[in-house]
Amino acid sequence: MLLPGDPKRARFVADTYLDDVRQVNSVRGADGFTGTYNGTPVSVQAVGMGVPSAAIYYTELIRFYGCTKLIRIGSCGGLAESLALGDVIAATAAGTDSAAIKRITHGMDIPAVADFSLLRAAVEAAEAQDIAMSVGTVFTSDLFYGPESDPFTALQANGVLGVEMEIAVLYALCATEGVSGLGLLTVSDDLVRGTALSSQDREDTFDRMIKVALAVA
Ligand code: HPA
Repeated sequence: MLLPGDPKRARFVADTYLDDVRQVNSVRGADGFTGTYNGTPVSVQAVGMGVPSAAIYYTELIRFYGCTKLIRIGSCGGLAESLALGDVIAATAAGTDSAAIKRITHGMDIPAVADFSLLRAAVEAAEAQDIAMSVGTVFTSDLFYGPESDPFTALQANGVLGVEMEIAVLYALCATEGVSGLGLLTVSDDLVRGTALSSQDREDTFDRMIKVALAVA
């Protein structure tokens, strides 16, 4: 199951990469599709932006639709000097400032981590396809426009590769529900140098992340 935020990206993935596609959801414009990839059934469902939106889709997909392998495909702001626009990241773990995740963990500091088998499959898929992929920690923020005057220095000092808004709750819910989750990201905004991908570049560069995700699926 591939999980972008954007419904247009869900449709793009279904139309571009899957065979035998049928649309299975359009409630609230959150398009979802089911098809096959190299003969294997694969679905793609848009989950919206931010923890509360994504958490509804993740929970219902797991509890009511039997999804057991959830692979987020998203974009992020790059925080590490070494990252360039369009680079792909596999999130080993996600820190967060999300109050919702504290509720899921009953207030305890339980790390939100990727499923090891999916992560290993992603690393192997990237290597097999000659796709450079950074592997490390990301940060799931509740606010895109936060109140801090210097929002990223502390994250950079802790070795965080990128900031995004939906992975920590995927990992937290997968842990409580007993299923497997993995977050893959493309750097769409370079927060070190203050640059961003154009819309066309986004489409072209996301191709590498989607190929890794499909190989894992
Ligand atoms: N912040 C949070 N989420 C994001 C960003 C960002 O800069 N870029 C893409 N998703």
